[in-house]
Amino acid sequence: MSAQVRYQLNENDIPKFWYNINADMPVPPAPVLHPQTMEPVTPDFLGVLFPMELILQEISVERYIQIPEEVREIYKLYRPTPLLRATRLEKALDTPAHIYYKYEGVSPAGSHKPNTAIPQAFYNKISGTKALATETGAGQWGSALALACNFFDLALEVYMVKVSYHQKPYRRVMMETYGAQVFASPSERTNYGRAVLSEDPDNPGSLGIAISEAVETAATSGGLKKYSLGSVLNHVLMHQTVIGEEALKQMDLAGEYPDVVIGCVGGGSNFSGLAYPFLRQNLLDGQKTRLLAVEPTAAPSLTRGSYTFDYGDTARMAPIVKMYTLGHDFVPPPIHAGGLRYHGMAPSLCALYQAGYLEAVAVQQLTTFQAAIQFARSEGIIAAPESAHAIRAAIDEALDAKEKGEKRVILFNLSGHGNFDMAAYQVYLSDQLEDYEYPFEAVNAAMEKLPKVEMPA
Ligand SMILES: Cc1ncc(COP(=O)(O)O)c(C=O)c1O
Repeated sequence: MSAQVRYQLNENDIPKFWYNINADMPVPPAPVLHPQTMEPVTPDFLGVLFPMELILQEISVERYIQIPEEVREIYKLYRPTPLLRATRLEKALDTPAHIYYKYEGVSPAGSHKPNTAIPQAFYNKISGTKALATETGAGQWGSALALACNFFDLALEVYMVKVSYHQKPYRRVMMETYGAQVFASPSERTNYGRAVLSEDPDNPGSLGIAISEAVETAATSGGLKKYSLGSVLNHVLMHQTVIGEEALKQMDLAGEYPDVVIGCVGGGSNFSGLAYPFLRQNLLDGQKTRLLAVEPTAAPSLTRGSYTFDYGDTARMAPIVKMYTLGHDFVPPPIHAGGLRYHGMAPSLCALYQAGYLEAVAVQQLTTFQAAIQFARSEGIIAAPESAHAIRAAIDEALDAKEKGEKRVILFNLSGHGNFDMAAYQVYLSDQLEDYEYPFEAVNAAMEKLPKVEMPA
């Protein structure tokens, strides 16, 4: 009999609760600090940027937080997402491993990002916010928040990293289709954008700069506009746990349990969304699943960065958190996985990685695209360049299992499709893609500019 390929749940199986890792953190969290005073932040400071409900979620230690019905109603447009077994890829690799993937690219925006965009827009709406400001790199996050703001009738300003704004015009048009306003960052609209441009009129932008512009927009709006972030923060990671909760049920339908769970990491949200519910089963239920985060060698915060306090943005307006960082003024090399070009990483993920609960690996751009092509030609889906990092690691696990003659069960997160990323595929297919390794010296130089926090780091 041939193996089953798709494992489907129905609408009633959309999770009713998000899982909050804070309840089970085996290592204590470091405090979040005010960027000027370097004292622990107060809800007052955070309240300028976020609605109270999200601030409460950020610091909550409740294990489960109920998903509002209004949010579940919109989740119904694409959740539960399918779990597939990559039988054709297994065959192409001639591996005894079983490879499963959770496919988040079925959302209207094309990635996992609406899982948090929808609740963030909802909580802002019910607390009276009129407009949101955010940043986006390659455009996946901006598209997701534009979709969500449209449903809740909120205005949205998106600061899009300038190089992507020009490279990916269709992502911009998608955001505009949902009703958002999109500006190339650095822009003339903010003090920080103007300051960057006056020093360097050709600055290509970075996520750190775009975050600074969006934070400034919210902070100077007299309370009318709030800021929204698509990764890194606890509440964002928590909203993404719908992925892992569904995957647990679907693996059950498949009658298997993963030996290893894999996800790419930019700020850490899609990986945590899949991995944290499996980590809970490790911590509370004696399971022994390995949890593997995959990053690009061009932005290797976990595998090459320092674990220390750093600013979340370039202008040093966002809070200081303890994380693996390449330095807040990190200028990302021009790799195609735009969503993985952030200098830091979610603090909970960093703490867990440092304590040995998670593993991490960095992969090069060329081998990542080779994996994406192999996946497209066996499974049919053209992956987002970010998600292709997870595919690379999943294939490497399957080949390792083959070498060792092991039947390993591999589960990875296919966080988004790459249908807007044809330019990147074109560069690869025409042999013009290059590898890029972030130099150690650059990391060392960036460490000189870290905030001087008087605390055991
Ligand atoms: C498809 C896709 N996957 C992954 C990421 C990385 O973000 P995170 O680590 O928060 O999941 C992004 C970010 O834009 C993305 O668009």
